[in-house]
Amino acid sequence: MSFSWLIEMYCQKTFMPKSRTYRAVAPGRVNLIGDHTDYTGGLVLPMAIKMFTSIEFSLQENYVDLRSESEDGIYRRALSDRSDPETGLLWGRYVDAVLSLIEEPQGLTGVIRSTLPIGAGLSSSASLEVALALALGFQGDELSLALLGQRAEHMATQVPCGIMDQLCITSAVAGTASLINCSTYEVTHIPIPDDVKVVVRFVTARQLEGSAYAQRVDECRLAEHFVGPLSVADMSDVTKIPDAIVRSRATHVISENARVSAFATALSAGDFSQAGELMLESHKSLAENFAVSVPEMDQAVAQLAATPGVYGARMTGGGFGGCMVALCEPNAQVEGWVVEPVGAASLQ
Ligand code: GLA
Repeated sequence: MSFSWLIEMYCQKTFMPKSRTYRAVAPGRVNLIGDHTDYTGGLVLPMAIKMFTSIEFSLQENYVDLRSESEDGIYRRALSDRSDPETGLLWGRYVDAVLSLIEEPQGLTGVIRSTLPIGAGLSSSASLEVALALALGFQGDELSLALLGQRAEHMATQVPCGIMDQLCITSAVAGTASLINCSTYEVTHIPIPDDVKVVVRFVTARQLEGSAYAQRVDECRLAEHFVGPLSVADMSDVTKIPDAIVRSRATHVISENARVSAFATALSAGDFSQAGELMLESHKSLAENFAVSVPEMDQAVAQLAATPGVYGARMTGGGFGGCMVALCEPNAQVEGWVVEPVGAASLQ
């Protein structure tokens, strides 16, 4: 957490002239490895990507007035209005949530734009939450901003997500992926070597709301009842779990944490074959032990992994559809978005 960042935020808010136009910009993220480990304090390795939510706005005295370029509706609310929100807009729920979590929000009028596909598992909602918080006058460090975004997600969607998406978006450094310890919130920036490319391909639409995501969170809690925190448990502990399904959920989480560490080491050592192998193992475990993949995803991953020049591929994010991610040789001929690692969200 940088102190200078905190000062910068403070100065920005205190001296923000009313007459000019501002832009709050937050990237999306793709997770290279480490899924369904964050909400039990495990390891994850996402990277912020060059696809963004941006909010262009000017300051207003008393109200928040926002429209979205890609979604219907206008959000308008007086800052003094503390009643229960009833916007009826899907995206408006995020504005309500973020607004309610900022101590002294500032009024604004603006437009939300996004180059991130919505509902594709690239954290369009976390990106929106962070951009909104910056625009509405949030003050604090990267971790507080991420925690606010996570809380807003819980409030807006009731999906009990972990901290991965928001903390990656608020603390990313260009050219690197973020190895995050979700128990301590420590972030280690792992450079993405120049001699590999990361490709993301959309497979099928998905929504975590109403999915079995919350059930997986509960199953992990149940596993912890028998083995203690999954983030420090080891494979020999899983035999203490009587229920076979809960046992396989724990098997995924414990083995995935080990894969994240091994992947970070392999990537740093330039051992891309090993890194690719770990991605394939991660996918298999998410599909078989954690049951969060879908048949189209399994087929797409198998097909991509068999393409020349691809070291490995896997589903990415919460699952139940969405995107897959692949680690490839720079010249590999693969369809999809070649994603570049970018830096953290900012107010411009
Ligand atoms: C979603 C959640 C994250 C994380 C992933 C799965 O993206 O928002 O917190 O749990 O799913 O790794």
